[in-house]
Amino acid sequence: MPLITITTRDGDKHEIDAEENQTLMEVIRDNGIDGMDAICGGCCSCATCHVYVDPEFMAKLPPISEDEDMLLDGSLHRKPEVSRLSCQIRMSESLGGLSLEIAPED
Ligand code: FES
Repeated sequence: MPLITITTRDGDKHEIDAEENQTLMEVIRDNGIDGMDAICGGCCSCATCHVYVDPEFMAKLPPISEDEDMLLDGSLHRKPEVSRLSCQIRMSESLGGLSLEIAPED
């Protein structure tokens, strides 16, 4: 399983064996990592699953949809070069080694 590193808002780091086909939001939630509400459950309608992705991996991620882009635009903490909604990224072997940080709450 691909290994990923998740950094919480408090700076705690968690190395997780992520299951393929789970979204990053599900990996964070199912491993009991604090700091992510994911209120809409992954329907791309809340932006409470906002994360900052290691820039080296941004090119490997699926393109941002119009809905995701619009939701991220509503965040005060968007960083265009690294911001994504974690419910829109599905784990695969090619994302092994990825690290991400949970973005500040809006
Ligand atoms: S969980 Fe709501 S947009 Fe990702």
